[in-house]
Amino acid sequence: MDLFEYQARDMFEAHGVPVLAGIVAHTPEEAKAAAEKIGGVTVVKAQVKVGGRGKAGGVKVAKTADEAFEHATAILGMDIKGHTVNTVMIAQGADIAEEFYFSVLLDRSNRNYLAMCSVEGGVEIEVLAVERPEALARVAVDPAVGIDAAKADEIVATAGFSAELAPKVAATIMKLWDVFEKEDATLVEVNPLVRTGAGDILALDGKVTIDENADFRHPHHAELEDAAAADPLEAKAKEAGLNYVKLDGEVGVIGNGAGLVMSTLDVVAYAGENHGGVKPANFLDIGGGASAEVMANGLDVILNDPQVKSVFVNVFGGITACDAVAKGIVGALAELGSAANKPLVVRLDGNNVEEGRRILNEANHPLVTLAATMDEGADKAAELANASK
Ligand SMILES: Nc1ncnc2c1ncn2[C@@H]1O[C@H](COP(=O)(O)OP(=O)(O)OP(=O)(O)O)[C@@H](O)[C@H]1O
Ligand SMILES: [Mg+2]
Repeated sequence: MDLFEYQARDMFEAHGVPVLAGIVAHTPEEAKAAAEKIGGVTVVKAQVKVGGRGKAGGVKVAKTADEAFEHATAILGMDIKGHTVNTVMIAQGADIAEEFYFSVLLDRSNRNYLAMCSVEGGVEIEVLAVERPEALARVAVDPAVGIDAAKADEIVATAGFSAELAPKVAATIMKLWDVFEKEDATLVEVNPLVRTGAGDILALDGKVTIDENADFRHPHHAELEDAAAADPLEAKAKEAGLNYVKLDGEVGVIGNGAGLVMSTLDVVAYAGENHGGVKPANFLDIGGGASAEVMANGLDVILNDPQVKSVFVNVFGGITACDAVAKGIVGALAELGSAANKPLVVRLDGNNVEEGRRILNEANHPLVTLAATMDEGADKAAELANASK
């Protein structure tokens, strides 16, 4: 999950990273009041989860509170690369002498962490990275050690900071590592990190990506979620504790185990090539315990997707036997009643498959078709989806 700049700012502050005052506003009036509260020069900053805000006109300096009102009027409602600005942050203005760049991130291709740092930060960092890559120091960070004093020194030395600035920047980098490690982030980026006229180091902008797999360690991260932006079906699934990802096709997919669901998506997409190009509509892993309740919740989410024309339930009975899954499907259809209104193709295999099939045959639900194999089920589901497109 990506955070808004103001959320990153608050997180930085909580971990002792030097930042300036920042107040969130949703209206020009609130922006003016915030500017008055902060006093002096402020900067009105669009809060959108996309880069290049400054270049798009979403970052504007205000000398007075009235100017902050005017800038907020212009920036609120603005579209920046497809993101509508609903919120601005009124930031205390900094007296910038120099702009630097720092980030630390999960480097998946090298199975490591990577710190990047440059004495030439600012809005042109992407150009710098491409045209003069040598000006952007890249230093591998051992996950078992992190950015300790020695590593921080190595980073600032590689980036080429002066002897005078190096220790100050290194101290800030260690605090930013604290944010990265303690908040379970996969990215912490500061651009610009600045030196002020008075010689202080400040983080003036922040991008943080949180690893949601670690949410169980951070109950407060739930508050950082942008509920307004979430896909409503994904939000509903999350509430029901389901592993659901909305995709763009017509065939709803339910399976048990992430690996099986992933291959089901492939098989459905492949089968769809023979049936008008239909595609999978979602990823949904109902996990090990495919009870009637879990099945009902899963079907409820999928059937509420207006794009879905058919559903393929692909379950391999392991610890949860097929008869339990079959009972789950029958129970779910009974529970959903008339809300269950799209054809279901069910493929069961594995533990106690005979009994599972017997239960479904006996229930003889008009919407349910049994398939003997995964390929057959995918083909049938694709055919049904194409027929009612
Ligand atoms: N509080 C501030 N005081 C003075 N100048 C600021 C302040 N915040 C930002 N700026 C100036 O505005 C520039 C752009 O701001 P910022 O880095 O927050 O947005 P951005 O980099 O354009 O956005 P993104 O990081 O999304 O690309 C900074 O490089 C800095 O020069
Ligand atoms: Mg920036």
